[in-house]
Amino acid sequence: MIKAITGTKDILPADMPKWNYLEFIVKKTMESFNYKEIRTPVFEETSLFARGIGEATDIVSKEMYTFLDRSETSITLKPEMTASVVRALIEHSLDKKQSLNKLFYISPMFRQEKPQAGRLRQFHQFGAEALGFDSPALDAEMIIIPYQILKRIGLNHLSVKINSLGVPESREVYKTKLRGFLDDKFSRLSDESKKRYDINILRIFDSKDEGDQEIMKDAPLLIDYLDDASLNHFMEVKSALDNAGIPYQVDPKLVRGLDYYTNTTFEVISGSVGSQSALCGGGRYNLLAQEIGGAPIPGVGFAAGIERILLACANENTIAIPEEKIDLYVVLLDKSLSAKAYGLSLKFREKGIITDTDYALRSVKAQMREANKYNSRFVLFFGGDEYKNGEFVLKNMADGTETKININCIDKIFAIIKGA
Ligand code: HAM
Repeated sequence: MIKAITGTKDILPADMPKWNYLEFIVKKTMESFNYKEIRTPVFEETSLFARGIGEATDIVSKEMYTFLDRSETSITLKPEMTASVVRALIEHSLDKKQSLNKLFYISPMFRQEKPQAGRLRQFHQFGAEALGFDSPALDAEMIIIPYQILKRIGLNHLSVKINSLGVPESREVYKTKLRGFLDDKFSRLSDESKKRYDINILRIFDSKDEGDQEIMKDAPLLIDYLDDASLNHFMEVKSALDNAGIPYQVDPKLVRGLDYYTNTTFEVISGSVGSQSALCGGGRYNLLAQEIGGAPIPGVGFAAGIERILLACANENTIAIPEEKIDLYVVLLDKSLSAKAYGLSLKFREKGIITDTDYALRSVKAQMREANKYNSRFVLFFGGDEYKNGEFVLKNMADGTETKININCIDKIFAIIKGA
């Protein structure tokens, strides 16, 4: 039996109401902030992500689904959207048409990570990117939007962590300091951190190794080496969050797994989903557009993992989806009338009445069982003596009452079903 690939998941009809509800709240919230939806291809040229996210990151060096297509082009299934959105913005000169582009997306992403609860190889993100201005108000907006969405779907155990990574110049000064601090401790670092020492020293802060964590406890912090402009920007972001009433903690050790960040970075963490607790992450990336070959366009954004959010919702028992119902089930009493019954069902559907009927010429009992399974509000009996007398029988399944209706007056049936 062929099964779904490890780390991928079918989203079954029973799961869909929660997905649809979350996506509805996402779209409503984005609309209220005037963000416009964008969709980009599922795959891109590998160099986009290698240059955008950074060769030294785990995502690029270990996790991407990369392959040569039949014309020997290196293709990668998108591991994130930011690089794709910036590519699309530059390619279509959206920045020439509008000084600020506020864009949002909902899309599958692909990373070959070790699967566990809340960590998949095909997962889904919603997110937003605001490109054009270097305004701290936009940085704050990228925290306010996901926070509002998570609150709206009823999540409670949330914490927001923010940090600033400054600009490359101040970061280089700091990296030299950090290297100096680690020089005499290098031999005690884990193998993974030893590798990071050369290729991406900041990521040693992310190490799960206890020995590394002990060493890094006393490490100098980037936030103490920020240039004045970055520090001011950070202060304005914090005050915008204060004004919006968003609780947050400054976490000077928050280094994110993507290289494009400048200034603000943040994560929204849930206390109810176990180890994969980051529901959302993001930050400012003022140099990314140039990095992938465009003009300098400042940008900031966030992305949130839908599977993790739905896991948190399940654990916190939020999102109560009402039981699904249909409006009408047409029960066929006389098999010779099946074509007519099907034609009648189409008329109800044209009126927006959710209608189903029998496709297998089954017994009346089996059809009634099916009507009940679908929670049909009404059943229309088609055939039998009443039909011979020119009438349908419409049964209200909530109270069991039956109404006879002339077969030429189906408007009456519409009215009863819509009015009920
Ligand atoms: P990220 O932190 O890599 O950031 O991913 C954002 C969110 O996607 C995570 O917080 C998590 O909820 C979800 N996520 C990531 N990997 C997985 C996985 N393997 N399985 C399930 N969920 C996952 C970005 O992707 C950046 N593009 C965010 C951004 C937008 N920065 C600026 N603009």
